[in-house]
Amino acid sequence: MKPKTPVLVNIIIVVALLMIVYYMFVQSASFLSSPYFWATMIISGIMVFIADGISDLIENNRFQKLTEEEKKKYIEAKQTPFYKRLLDSGFKKQSNAEEQDMIIDHGFDGITELDNSLPKWWLGLFYFGCIFCVVYITAYAFTDYAHPLTEYEKEYKEQLASIAEYEKTAPKITVETAKYDPANIAEGEQMFNSNCASCHSQGGKGGIGPNLTDDYWINQKEADVFHNVFWMLENGSPNNPAMRAFIKEGVITGRDAEKIAAYIYHINQEIPPITKDQGGAAPQGEVAPWVKGTPRK
Ligand code: HEC
Repeated sequence: MKPKTPVLVNIIIVVALLMIVYYMFVQSASFLSSPYFWATMIISGIMVFIADGISDLIENNRFQKLTEEEKKKYIEAKQTPFYKRLLDSGFKKQSNAEEQDMIIDHGFDGITELDNSLPKWWLGLFYFGCIFCVVYITAYAFTDYAHPLTEYEKEYKEQLASIAEYEKTAPKITVETAKYDPANIAEGEQMFNSNCASCHSQGGKGGIGPNLTDDYWINQKEADVFHNVFWMLENGSPNNPAMRAFIKEGVITGRDAEKIAAYIYHINQEIPPITKDQGGAAPQGEVAPWVKGTPRK
């Protein structure tokens, strides 16, 4: 007869399993503050103690029926610490006498076979795998657990919320505070393509909206191109409602506008214009006496 597993070990196993199951269903550590979790914990704890009490009774009962020799062996085993017993049972080699008991004799072909029992660690992993599989499939079938699309949507919403939160507290960028930074050009180009290219065409060569690469401008509100573009994004065109006040209407933020304006500064001041011959729109407005650089502080 083998001594039973200490109640503390059982408790640790039960707590670990409960936490895994709860985590799978709730998908965050928030279950730690749920009364259901603690109720299940307490009930499971009580059940482990009851089971331990019952196995104590059974153990006592069986102990009485052992021979003196077996009793001595049992007491010896009971005095060895649990972890050592576990380790020993994992690497134990049976004696010849024990092997004799396990031999299966095929009889007809003279081959004998050792019917070893499976190692405990192996069995433990196997049972854990089976339970985990059932819990996983149930969680997958009835909750959002492990669904990539749901996870993606959740994270996406969280990101949008954190951006909104950031925008709320971060200092607003206005035409007064906007600064030109060449590092913004690449990102500005992407935003231009998704927000502006429908009217101003790829590369800002003009379409429904004017050519933004040349020196002719209808609206000249600021001294330099960068701030003039920012002004347009903040206020829209006073002549044509098609060019909306993107910032005031909340379509883009001041931070986005700073990037888009950097891109337009780049295509207007730093590279040659896309002329009519190259597929650009014909000039509109007057030649603008833009100040070099982006001097407004
Ligand atoms: C729905 C079409 C449309 C969209 C989208 C649009 N614009 Fe415009 N945009 C126009 C029109 C039309 C004008 C000319 C306004 C006028 O006549 O005053 C204009 C004018 C401008 C001007 C001033 C040009 C000048 O010669 O005065 C700038 C700068 C500008 N847009 C930038 C942008 C940026 C940057 C975006 C994207 C965030 C954008 N626009 C999106 C239609 C559009």
